[in-house]
This record gives sequence, structure tokens and C-alpha cells, in this order.
Amino acid sequence: MLQLNALHPAGHQPFPPNAPTAPTNPPLPPLHKQTRLPLQEAWPLIQRLFRQPADFAVASTGPDGQPHITPIGSILLNADQTGMFVEKFTTSLPRNLAHNDRICVYAGNDSWTTFALAMLRGHTNTPMGVRLYGRVGPRRPLSNDERSRFLRKVRLMRWTRGHDRLWGDLTHARDVTFDNYEPVLAGSFTRGQFRRDAEPSRSELHAAESLGGQVARHPRVADLLRALDHADVKIVEGDATLREFIAGLGSFPPWMRGLFRARGLLAKALRLHHDDPSGLEPIDPQTLELEPGKPMRFFTTRAFEEDAFWVAGSEDRHLAAWLAVVVEPGETHARRFHVVTLVRYKDWTGPVYFNLIRPFHHLIVWALARRAAAARP
Ligand SMILES: Cc1cc2nc3c(=O)[nH]c(=O)nc-3n(C[C@H](O)[C@H](O)[C@H](O)COP(=O)(O)O)c2cc1C
Repeated sequence: MLQLNALHPAGHQPFPPNAPTAPTNPPLPPLHKQTRLPLQEAWPLIQRLFRQPADFAVASTGPDGQPHITPIGSILLNADQTGMFVEKFTTSLPRNLAHNDRICVYAGNDSWTTFALAMLRGHTNTPMGVRLYGRVGPRRPLSNDERSRFLRKVRLMRWTRGHDRLWGDLTHARDVTFDNYEPVLAGSFTRGQFRRDAEPSRSELHAAESLGGQVARHPRVADLLRALDHADVKIVEGDATLREFIAGLGSFPPWMRGLFRARGLLAKALRLHHDDPSGLEPIDPQTLELEPGKPMRFFTTRAFEEDAFWVAGSEDRHLAAWLAVVVEPGETHARRFHVVTLVRYKDWTGPVYFNLIRPFHHLIVWALARRAAAARP
């Protein structure tokens, strides 16, 4: 297993082997000096809070300086610290925004199961609430994509009379750009939340260890290691180069295509995106494009260093998944490949889906990794 030098500072070797030695992490500061995560790093936690059952309200200021609260349930967050909300019934809010476009959005966790568990434990890692500060843009038409995205949130009520009255003719929205946040904390009950050196979860620790210090701290990778729900690693040895190995991971044997077709049925039941890989040709390692942003089968490359590591991500409605391959010298063959899978759930369908496919996930990754390590075209 690769060693993360934050966990094993003394025995750390530079990795990948040709990379410069990373500075040893400074000792953890005492608890009262912990620093709050900047907005960008806290964003995955905030996005998750917004996806849970939550109360939302927008605070604005009137021209006379009077504070004002408007319940707004339609706020949707994007990946880049921006968001939008549907504007239909509001009256004072637009008036206030014309005078001062700054708002504070409150999102309070409303999940009674989370609260009950936290009460039994006396502590919770799940955020209880957050205040987001930002600036609101002008009223603008709502796009069809945005309308469908919002209506998915309330689809359970689509058969009710109220559904059409409340959400039948949504036409306008406003964008919000957030620049700061303030978590809702409650002393030792929420200790460690939104802190830079907060206790990592077992999955986060496992992921960081499996990736190794150099890769885990890579600027395009570090933000993946927050709010992880699952991490696993498979280690195989072989003589393939990293490029050949990645091409091998994307080349499915016929029996696997059958499994992917079965996945299609599950995806349909949970209304998830599905690409059937039947007919996909084996990938030629020489023509494989591995620059950040380039697609590789179901994934998009996020970071790549020739014969050192590759990290790629795939986003769906229910979960975000990343696949990383890290190379080090092998003992029985030229190279040892660490194939790391990281998963972050987005809503309740994420764990339902992932737990159903979990045995197949392990089977497929093992089989592909073994074939890919051995394959030299
Ligand atoms: C839970 C909840 C969510 C709401 N979400 C929205 C919304 O997303 N968009 C909207 O225009 N009105 C929404 N409303 C309705 C407004 O909050 C309501 O019309 C309010 O009185 C407008 O306040 P204002 O005068 O401050 O603009 C919501 C109301 C509730 C109770």
C-alpha cells in the first residue's frame, strides 16, 4: 500500500519515483487554531447539504435597512460556487434586490434521521446548516434544462393538485454568485465540521493512502478527497505502461458487455444515464488522448502524468465517481498499478444504486485491471 506522508511522515519516499520530494506536512495545529475550509473546499459538503431534506430561506435588506426573510425552496447549486433560484411568487425580495443585490441564504438540515442519530451519538459530522453569502443577478428567463432539474426535485408530488399550482408555469429565475459562507455550529456537538484538519472519514483516509501523498495533494485531485462515501483499491502488477493499462481498462471483454446491458435495466428503473458499451472497439494506447478534459469511455480525464498517475471522473444525477490509477515499480513485474475507485453520493439513489452494483463493481475492476496489466499489444 502506498504511504501518505501525512500519515507516515518518517518513512515517506518520493512518489512517483521521479517526482520531487514533497515537503513534510507541518504538525497538526491545536484544536482551537484549526482553520475553516475556504468556500471552494467546503463546496462539496454544502452541495450535499442542499440535496438533503432542508429548509431554505433568503435574507435581503430593504431600502430602509430593514432585514427581510423570504422562503425560497428552489435554490439549485452548480459545481463552481454559483447557483440559481426560480422566481415566481416573490414581491418584497425583488424590490429589495433592486436596492441591494447582496443576500444571505440559509439552508438548515431537516433530516430527522440525521438528527436522531446525532442525538444518540452526541456528535454529528453531517452539517446542521449553513449560511451562504452572495450577490444576485437580474431576473431572467428560466431554461428548459433548469426547469427539468428543479421539477426532478419535486417529482414525488407530481400527481397532486398543488404541483401544477405551485410549479406549473415556472418562467423566470435569478443567478447567484456566492463568495463566502458561515456554517451553523453547536460546540462539541458539531466539532471538526468544515475544519481543514477535521478527522477524515474512513473512506477519505483510505483514498488518500491509496493514492499516495504526491497524487492526493495534486491540485486537480485534492478536492476529490472530501465528503467521500466509498473508496476501494485494487493492486495488480504487470509489464504494461500506464498508457497501455488505461487503454486496457477501457476495452471490455464480451462477457462484461452482458453485465453492462443488465446495468442498463437498473439505470432505467432509477432513471440514470446509461451508455451501452456494445460495439465499442478496443482502445489503441498510442492514440489515447489523456489531457485533462478528454473523454475515456464513461470517464473524463482530470489529471495525467505519463507513467506516474491518471485520475478521471464521471458525474451522474445520483453519484459522482472517480477512477485513479497510480503506478510504482513492481516486485514481480515492471510496474505495480493501484486502481482506486472513489464515490460520492448525491442523493438517496446513490447508495441504493451503488450497493446493488457493488459486487459487480469489484468483479469488473479486478478483471479489467488484471487483463490491462498483462496486456502488451
Ligand atoms: C418552503 C417554501 C418554499 C418557497 N419557494 C419559493 C421559490 O422557490 N420561489 C418563489 O418565487 N417563491 C417561493 N416561495 C413562496 C415565497 O416565499 C412567498 O411568496 C413569499 O411570501 C414571498 O416573499 P417576499 O415578499 O419576501 O418576496 C416558497 C415558500 C415556501 C413556504
